[in-house]
Amino acid sequence: MAEHSVLFTRKLPDAVERRAARDYRLIANPDDHPLTTDELVARSQDVDAVVCTVADKMNAGVVSRLSARVRIVASFGVGTEHLDLAAARARGLVMSNTPEVLTDATAEIALLLLLGAARRAYEGQELLRSGGWTGWGPTQLMGRQLSGKRLGVVGMGRIGQAMARRARGFGVEIHYTDQRRLPPEKEEGAIFHPSVDALLPLSELLSLHAPSTPETRHLLDARRLALLPRGAIVVNTARGDLVDDEALIAALRSGQVGAAGLDVFQGEPALHPGYRSLPNTFLLPHMGSATIETREAMGFRALDNVDGLFAGREPPDAVV
Ligand code: DGY
Repeated sequence: MAEHSVLFTRKLPDAVERRAARDYRLIANPDDHPLTTDELVARSQDVDAVVCTVADKMNAGVVSRLSARVRIVASFGVGTEHLDLAAARARGLVMSNTPEVLTDATAEIALLLLLGAARRAYEGQELLRSGGWTGWGPTQLMGRQLSGKRLGVVGMGRIGQAMARRARGFGVEIHYTDQRRLPPEKEEGAIFHPSVDALLPLSELLSLHAPSTPETRHLLDARRLALLPRGAIVVNTARGDLVDDEALIAALRSGQVGAAGLDVFQGEPALHPGYRSLPNTFLLPHMGSATIETREAMGFRALDNVDGLFAGREPPDAVV
């Protein structure tokens, strides 16, 4: 009989559930419905660990109602804005995330969004699927080419660097901003700018890779969008609240922003309806880390943290 019990708030990949069921008494969520706070609190009564996701709001109210038996909340994801770290600290609860393992998958989606937005992939799909395509045309669906352009990366952490590396392979020149300049081996030739304002005027392509914090909220607002070269392509795989939606939609309508590739939305799963009606948006439903390889690795990494705690070690990815 397993010594500890673990609650999964959502359905996780089979291999992850198999490992958890092998090592713990697992309370799973086979129909994958998002738990209400009351359900989460009720299910926590009998468990020592909760594996939650970035879609579960582990705010102070929820944390205070979790069973006193719960010793760790291991989040399946790298972002931590849904975790109230202060509330966890106050009750001696460990919280962890899953860094590193989703870097490549997220960078791939950023590149997909960049290509999809620049090359008008949504409009091309629509033309074919609607049956409206009448044949090849020399001026049909002309987009923007990546090669020879400058990409501005806001937030040159692991995912920003991985995106930059991929874009470089497309003949793109990389510029970036972050709180501080990276050492040359991490820069890989990318050009540092000391502020977002300094980066934007040369960013024909722009990709956001900053965390969601009070400081980064609406980082891309009307004033900053006006600093971009006219027709710039904007990509966001980080968090929706980095962008002022009204301002981006106005810029997409006016042509100040040529196209946007977005995987994340403020208030998701709702998204500003303006995005849906614009032809120059290429939209995905927060699937940056959604590969089998990565989602399994994220689950294993969350379990590594649970294992660590119950083995008396420091969980490797503890954020509090
Ligand atoms: C994260 O990990 O923070 C992503 O947004 C979901 O994979």
